[in-house]
Amino acid sequence: MAKEQIDKFQIIDHIGNGHFGNVFLCFDPFLQREIAVKVIKVTDPNKFVNAVKEGRTLDACRHKHIVDVKDVGTTIFRGEQVVTIVMEYLAKGSIQKRIEKRFISTKSACRVIQQALLGLEHAHNNNILHRDIKPANILFGDNDEIKLSDFGLAIDYHAELSNMQGYRPHQPLEVIEGNPMDKISDIYATGITFYRLLNNTNKLDFTFTSIEEWKKAVKRDRFPPRVFLPHIPEKVIKILKKSIHKNKGTRYQNCNDFRQALDRLNFDIDWVQVNEDYWTGQSNGDNYELIKVKKRNGWTIDFKKNGIRKTANCCKNVPDDKVETEFYEVIRKTTLR
Ligand SMILES: Nc1ncnc2c1ncn2[C@@H]1O[C@H](COP(=O)(O)OP(=O)(O)OP(=O)(O)O)[C@@H](O)[C@H]1O
Ligand SMILES: [Mg+2]
Repeated sequence: MAKEQIDKFQIIDHIGNGHFGNVFLCFDPFLQREIAVKVIKVTDPNKFVNAVKEGRTLDACRHKHIVDVKDVGTTIFRGEQVVTIVMEYLAKGSIQKRIEKRFISTKSACRVIQQALLGLEHAHNNNILHRDIKPANILFGDNDEIKLSDFGLAIDYHAELSNMQGYRPHQPLEVIEGNPMDKISDIYATGITFYRLLNNTNKLDFTFTSIEEWKKAVKRDRFPPRVFLPHIPEKVIKILKKSIHKNKGTRYQNCNDFRQALDRLNFDIDWVQVNEDYWTGQSNGDNYELIKVKKRNGWTIDFKKNGIRKTANCCKNVPDDKVETEFYEVIRKTTLR
């Protein structure tokens, strides 16, 4: 059977759908390569203008940390008028999918955010607000480099006033209170994305029944809860807390300040959880392991470098109520230099 087509492109797979469009993996028969095509239904002229705008914004914001747009067009697809945004195909998918599938280390979380901030800073320098920064809108390139995507809600902040748009759990207090979105609300949303990466949280528990309830929780630092996984070093948590502070003026005021704070962290061992009792890490080509084992006289914590025990970080006879603290203390103090 002939493959279904979008314009000249042959559909290989459906890779994503959101509020605005469907994204397909396609084959370009002329260039003989895979590409991604976002298809946006346009029922009226306003929607047409908006859909085209997403493509134009991507074109105006070309950057190595922003998904590359190839073309914008219009066609009839499945009997309906659509706008197509043709983009480079990023086979590794979004960081949302990554959080769902595997453990994200503190170092990887920081690296994702540093690169996303480079892309976002470029957009901001071009007067563009993204307004929908979240894990599903940050993709991995072939070499795991980060690419900001989905500029469907982006606006020119000099030309348009921004009411609340985008994913509600990623909104800062001042926006919930009715103030327009701005660069600092994009930075807050990046901070919440950072929170989710560090804490390996694929979904925030957003169950408010009224705006008042939601506002109160954000005001009291209850949303998102200031609870952090025990392996995350204090210095990293400090940066995270500043990026999502309830007071706008206390937060990072631009992408560069946020990124530089992350740049100043000096990473040592990149620890990854294998299971509750076993973590592995890497630093400068050396392999590390941290293992806890229950023995007759309490717990033993073994720290190994390239398979050899390093006694300075090992403990014996650790009681049940101390073992977690001791174990994560080793991870925290060896994650950064
Ligand atoms: N260029 C691409 N390469 C690979 N996958 C992509 C690409 N663009 C988008 N996707 C996938 O498709 C999903 C939806 O794309 P996108 O976010 O642009 O659509 P959307 O309709 O605006 O989504 P939402 O409204 O949910 O944010 C992404 O989360 C991602 O998984
Ligand atoms: Mg999206």
